[in-house]
Amino acid sequence: MTQDQLKRAVAQAALNYVLPKLHSSAIIGIGTGSTANCFIDLLGEHSGSFRGAVASSDASAARLEALGVPVFDLNSLDQMVAYVDGADECNPALELIKGGGAALTREKIVAAAADEFICIADGSKWVETLGRFPLPVEVIPMARAYVARQLVKLGGRPVYREGIITDNGNVILDVHDLQISQPKMLEQQINQITGVVCNGLFALRPADVVLLGTADGVQLLRNRVAL
Ligand code: A5P
Repeated sequence: MTQDQLKRAVAQAALNYVLPKLHSSAIIGIGTGSTANCFIDLLGEHSGSFRGAVASSDASAARLEALGVPVFDLNSLDQMVAYVDGADECNPALELIKGGGAALTREKIVAAAADEFICIADGSKWVETLGRFPLPVEVIPMARAYVARQLVKLGGRPVYREGIITDNGNVILDVHDLQISQPKMLEQQINQITGVVCNGLFALRPADVVLLGTADGVQLLRNRVAL
């Protein structure tokens, strides 16, 4: 199977997983990226059977609305049955690196607010140790050089993602050369650097379920710590 076919397979598996949770007042959180787009396209066919969605980016919001799915401001809601999103890397603890599409901050907010976080990923995203994919860090623009120096002290090699402004008006540093043996600790350390808005480690709030697309089919992995 090609990578695109695997993305479609995990999106279909996610739809099958969430459909029983959707009802007339249910809100679902929707992520960003090519795998999330596959899910949005499938979800659009069921737009009448749930209340609507919260999107983790302007791009996903526009795609949902084009398919007739109402998009809500998170502040107007008090519950979300699930959040479905892709990832750039996933380890056996279902900790993730996200933010390849620069939407990490809103992704982390929607994941935090959702009852269940369902991550959909093709097998190329599976790693034993996080860090092969450069870790995205969203930074207030005036703090970029300062934050970069602090990230070097943590052993990383930050690279400014030129030409990208996030939906929140900030910039992204992609941190290379990290061997992330303690993801929760590093997530907290980076969060504490003044000027950092958010980093792409999803370890303090990992996925609850990962649907992983492999040549042998879609594997459902559950987070035994979270459940
Ligand atoms: C967006 O900011 C990311 O977190 C995406 O979820 C991640 O980059 C995965 O994207 P793809 O599904 O396109 O691989």
